Amino acid sequence: MDNHLKKIYRIVHISDLHVGSTFFIPHMLERVINEINLIEPDVVIITGDITEFGFKSEYIAAKGFLNEINCPNVLVVPGNHDSRNVGYIHFEDTFGSLDKFTSCGPFDILCLDSSEPDLDEGHIGREKYYLLEKNFNNPNKIRIVAFHHHLLPIPGTGRERNILVDAGDFLKVLIEHSVHIVLLGHRHVPNVWHFEDMYVINAGTACTRRVRGYSVPCYNVLELDNETGILKLFRKVPFENSELVLSTSKFENYCKL
Ligand SMILES: [Fe+2]
Ligand SMILES: [Fe+2]
Repeated sequence: MDNHLKKIYRIVHISDLHVGSTFFIPHMLERVINEINLIEPDVVIITGDITEFGFKSEYIAAKGFLNEINCPNVLVVPGNHDSRNVGYIHFEDTFGSLDKFTSCGPFDILCLDSSEPDLDEGHIGREKYYLLEKNFNNPNKIRIVAFHHHLLPIPGTGRERNILVDAGDFLKVLIEHSVHIVLLGHRHVPNVWHFEDMYVINAGTACTRRVRGYSVPCYNVLELDNETGILKLFRKVPFENSELVLSTSKFENYCKL
């Protein structure tokens, strides 16, 4: 797709659906999907914990919901819950490969599996670091990496746990490969860090009661104006208005190319 064909590119980033959990709110996921379809995004990225226990029945139910998303690029990565009970085989059957790369308009998007069977800790692993070298070879694209576990601590989430066990090494790899945006989930609390020259963006849980403190279910909408190069990040609470949480002109040069 040519960069100049469209004025606004939109990415919707949702996470932690937990279909099958007693905390999952089905009508809220339906509402989120209705809102996504009104946004008409170019890409939808779902950063894991689609299911609660990784059961086949949960994958079937989740797929039933997600089939209603009208978007040509729906990218799903597994979370720790999805890899419980050998759920990763159902993940592959339902959503395709665990790691994948997609190019869409001005974006190059690398999705990585940070889960490990029956463990809650996140792990990318040195054996997968080459995927950045292999896929990020166009200097004119905005580089996005999406996975489930958090890369940096998230305020308001209590005791620190389950962060990528190789967070330090992988942070270095991300920065060395000039990644611009990292999209994450897992902690159920939304957050944005600007670290070095990279935005590390966590989504909250989109549709569960598994929230912490005063946080509420929410998701992220990224909007890139291809003429001005301004990227905006909106936080959207289902049924409510969206809130602008970030606006940057840092991508001006990418849109002129
Ligand atoms: Fe989760
Ligand atoms: Fe998780």
